[in-house]
Amino acid sequence: MAAANRPLRVGIIGAGGIARDANVPAYRALGDQVELVAVADIVAAAAERMLQEQGFQRAYTSYEEMLAQEDLDCVSVCTPNKLHAPAAIAALRAGVHVFVVKPPALTADEARDMRAEAARSGRVLTVGFPTRFSAEAQAAKRYVDAGGLGEIYTGRITALRRRGIPSWGVFTSKELQGGGPLIDIGVHALDTALYLMGFPEPASVLGATHTHLGNRPPGPAPWGAWDWRRYDVEDVCNALVTFRNGASLLVETSFIQNIEVMEEFNVRLSGTRAGLRLRPFAVFGEENGTLVDSQAAWLPKGKSYHDLIANFVRAVRGEEPAVCTPDQAVVVQRIIDAIYRSAATGGGVEA
Ligand SMILES: NC(=O)c1ccc[n+]([C@@H]2O[C@H](COP(=O)([O-])OP(=O)(O)OC[C@H]3O[C@@H](n4cnc5c(N)ncnc54)[C@H](O)[C@@H]3O)[C@@H](O)[C@H]2O)c1
Repeated sequence: MAAANRPLRVGIIGAGGIARDANVPAYRALGDQVELVAVADIVAAAAERMLQEQGFQRAYTSYEEMLAQEDLDCVSVCTPNKLHAPAAIAALRAGVHVFVVKPPALTADEARDMRAEAARSGRVLTVGFPTRFSAEAQAAKRYVDAGGLGEIYTGRITALRRRGIPSWGVFTSKELQGGGPLIDIGVHALDTALYLMGFPEPASVLGATHTHLGNRPPGPAPWGAWDWRRYDVEDVCNALVTFRNGASLLVETSFIQNIEVMEEFNVRLSGTRAGLRLRPFAVFGEENGTLVDSQAAWLPKGKSYHDLIANFVRAVRGEEPAVCTPDQAVVVQRIIDAIYRSAATGGGVEA
């Protein structure tokens, strides 16, 4: 366990966008609680750039070598999804605490292996689900915890883009990412809904995926032209998830779909006393015989990623538990697996 009174020695695996724009600034914001020590990326130029621009001490082209050479306390795994489990497990085996960006892994089996390794090594394993830390989600959590919604029995999550296929990175590769909008953006909303619902045990899933537009030459492409010839993930993924406590959740996600909005990201939950919508935050209830909608007059500007990394660092120091747990990661990943399995088979499946 890292000494409480010295800076934690931090490494980064995967020196791309989420490392540069979210993880490193969040570590930096912690000042002398952390020391940015080493970065590994299979692309030497990417590792070198981060070394130069972000003030790391050493760069590697192999995370295995970095783990062997450096005496790190913790790493952020910021690679494409396919590398999350192998890199996290290698780090845990090396005695290093792990923060892995979302989604936890490609599959539920991988998430279980990561959980088992964290338990065996006694190291912290947590997942970067920033939406949970948003001001809206935290406000919603306070309502839920105070019983303001009553029993939550149904909900609907949306992570929709009209023309939002990333033209960078590997987001259109099933092999490297495990899927499209469901595992990439739907996972944020799914995790937040489960967090607010108290992570009920999933029961069954009926899912459907559609690919009709992403695999054709792009028309209007506000996010840039993507490589349609290599596009093999779903455009749209919809599902109905049921839980052992009787609750249900509707899931709607898309990278590209002919809909009226350019983008929508939301979580809506309904309970026996009231319902709520995350964005913009509102509660729908009944007061003194009148149906009443309440809106937040003000919410603090969230710094979700900073809060996530701060929670990770405090968890490594033994000061508080990590908010996103390996058990929760397995539940999220079980539902994603089941949705894709159901879509492939065309029928309902156990989650
Ligand atoms: N808000 C969020 O939570 C959020 C936002 C964006 C991305 N992400 C997640 O971050 C991950 C990366 O996304 P990104 O946008 O940073 O992609 P990116 O393509 O910008 O960066 C990924 C980096 O990983 C490197 N890499 C690939 N294989 C590697 C290996 N074996 N060892 C070391 N490095 C390797 C690549 O060379 C690249 O530099 C994805 O899992 C994605 O889901 C999360």
